[in-house]
Amino acid sequence: MQVQLKIQAPRQSAVDLLAIPLFRLDAKKPSLPKRITTLDRALGGRIQDVIDRGDFRGAEDEAVLVYPDAKSKAKRILLIGLGKEDKCDAEALRRLAGRSLRQARGKKARSVGLLCPITRRIPNPEIAAALAAGAVLGSYRFDRYLEKKKGKNARHPEIRSFTLVFDKLSNAPPLRRAIRDAVALADSQNLARDLSNEPANTMTPVALARVASKMSREVGLKCHVMDVAELKRRKMGGILAVGQGSTNPPRMVVMEHNPRRGTAGSKKNRPTICLIGKGITFDSGGISIKPSAGMHEMKHDMSGAAAVVGAMRAIATLKIPHRVIGLVATAENLPSATAYRPGDIIRMHSGKTVEVLNTDAEGRLVLADALAYANARYQPAAMIDVATLTGACMIALGSFGTGLMGNDEALSDALYEAGKRSGECAWPLPLFEGHKKAMRGSVADLVNVAGREAGASTAGGFLAAFVDETPWAHLDIAGTGWTNKPTPIQPKGATGVGVRLLVDFLSHWKPGKPV
Ligand code: BES
Ligand code: ZN
Ligand code: ZN
Repeated sequence: MQVQLKIQAPRQSAVDLLAIPLFRLDAKKPSLPKRITTLDRALGGRIQDVIDRGDFRGAEDEAVLVYPDAKSKAKRILLIGLGKEDKCDAEALRRLAGRSLRQARGKKARSVGLLCPITRRIPNPEIAAALAAGAVLGSYRFDRYLEKKKGKNARHPEIRSFTLVFDKLSNAPPLRRAIRDAVALADSQNLARDLSNEPANTMTPVALARVASKMSREVGLKCHVMDVAELKRRKMGGILAVGQGSTNPPRMVVMEHNPRRGTAGSKKNRPTICLIGKGITFDSGGISIKPSAGMHEMKHDMSGAAAVVGAMRAIATLKIPHRVIGLVATAENLPSATAYRPGDIIRMHSGKTVEVLNTDAEGRLVLADALAYANARYQPAAMIDVATLTGACMIALGSFGTGLMGNDEALSDALYEAGKRSGECAWPLPLFEGHKKAMRGSVADLVNVAGREAGASTAGGFLAAFVDETPWAHLDIAGTGWTNKPTPIQPKGATGVGVRLLVDFLSHWKPGKPV
């Protein structure tokens, strides 16, 4: 689907379906905004008609289809509600685009236009960006394994073009840039969704590493993949232990973005941010095996890695002016004769030892190696890890927000703000000294679980042992990485959460200042 901009009078829009969004109308005096009245006159007054009959008030869940007379260039007009103007934000606009496309698909429209709403609350380029993002996210489908996905067998033909129509006097270049960037970002989020939706029989650690290298080549990132021999040489005991039960060997992927023109310092000593993703391509629990109900969803236990791969794609495409390293620690957690066991003591990359009390707490083991490696190798200004880490976080926050923990208030605050702006809410969970102490071991330096209490925070407490003083934040996306409740911009399955949050954070980050 092509997303494009047209600066034109709406009545000039020759599309199969033209969506006309309206804010909630005044109940007593439901008069149309002037730009719509002009259009309506050209269409023979049908819109006013619908409103006079009381069939449309502009509420957020309303959509009414109107068939204009033969003079109209648009074949169908869709009146679509936007709710109260003072509540309108980027998320409402993203959903508006998604809802418009859904209605258009139902009518088998191939070309869709949307008359962009204007509100003083939001600058026009931001409106355009939100609508473009909503369109790309809303038309995402994971259908590559369906026989009937394309061509004349398809249940609905594909929408070819989505045109954002802005009125005559708008300034095109900033709108065009905003749309281009928003599409690149949403495409990157869709890439993350694809990776997480892909089943574990195809999305193995090796396959994930291949996708990351291919993507890196395409957008101009450096990329290095560590195989088992290199992981052994580097003493990555955590990643190796988790991966040793599977015939699909583990990998660590390092992607590097270092723009020619960037922030402070030379290309060699620029402040660096490390993004680290948990990439468990299937989490059966290992020897501490999970119950079978819902286990199939554990193919998305690499959603943190998917978010990092997606974010790195966007970071390169949008030319974010910082050095950013994306690390993916990927392995498959299976029970077998070669699997690691409860009671095993493993030596991690950092040199610390861990007694494995539960092989299902594997994410923290692979992350700990990646964090320690990133910290020593890059001495980053900040590190952020993303992981489907704990069922406890899913219970605490559900799908309503990503768990946010760390050792640096300014960094956490910045991520919280990025969450608000991007629509990917991150909510603070505590990380007390007690949570860290709970992870101390008796026969090894650490244990990998500490009972059921405060499971999200004790997992954070474990990770904290591998980051020292470096500003670090941990995003637990166990509840937000996957959904069974579809929305207009999110079908069931992988959400690609984290991509927008991380990219938003990085586009506001200023090195040198407290993060
Ligand atoms: N991948 C799971 C966490 C998870 C659960 C993600 C549900 C998404 C949805 C993780 O590896 C895990 O199994 N964690 C255990 C830790 C426990 C053994 C301390 C958990 O949360 O039950
Ligand atoms: Zn697990
Ligand atoms: Zn896991």
